[in-house]
Amino acid sequence: MINILIKIIKSKLKKNFSFLRYKKKLSSKIIRNVKIDEGTRIGPYVLIDGEAGSILIGKNCSINSFSWLGGGNSILSIGNDVRIGTGTVISCANHIFKDKNLLIRQQGLEKNSDITIEDDVWIGANSTILPGVKIQKGSVIGAGSVVTKDIESYVVAVGNPAKKIKER
Ligand SMILES: CC(C)(COP(=O)(O)OP(=O)(O)OC[C@H]1O[C@@H](n2cnc3c(N)ncnc32)[C@H](O)[C@@H]1OP(=O)(O)O)[C@@H](O)C(=O)NCCC(=O)NCCS
Repeated sequence: MINILIKIIKSKLKKNFSFLRYKKKLSSKIIRNVKIDEGTRIGPYVLIDGEAGSILIGKNCSINSFSWLGGGNSILSIGNDVRIGTGTVISCANHIFKDKNLLIRQQGLEKNSDITIEDDVWIGANSTILPGVKIQKGSVIGAGSVVTKDIESYVVAVGNPAKKIKER
């Protein structure tokens, strides 16, 4: 009888612990200077840090797992209804490296490297959006793209560097 009771308690504990581990593993982190509007969904393992700048995310966006959003010294602003694919990096941080006599880490980050992503943009998985870029309303960025320059509205752009391949 006691053995059966011990078995039941052990199995309950095991279930609870695996549940806790699962919850912990799936956590995302939202750190400093971040504002997120209602209806926006953040996937597991996403990291969002406004750093010394700030990050503003609009309504009804989705930011999928393993993405990293960083404000650097600037402002990252994301409009409404934006889709961000898994593994995407959007960082306003550019290291200053002009002075060869100083370590790069001693030179700080560039200012005025704002990134703007307007409403209804879809960014495919594993893309990188570089500092200073604006992606205009309704555009689509293909998976694995590196966006180095502004993208006009309602176009599809792909590749590294991302180039417009067509209008939507
Ligand atoms: C960008 C995308 C939406 C375009 O789809 P589409 O309009 O059906 O375009 P096509 O498949 O007709 O491709 C058009 C051309 O672009 C190329 N292309 C498409 N996507 C590309 C990409 N991500 N990178 C590089 N080239 C790409 C195609 O090879 C094709 O080239 P070709 O004309 O020389 O043959 C799609 O390819 C894509 O990347 N989707 C992202 C999917 C994703 O990341 N999902 C998970 C996150 S939610």
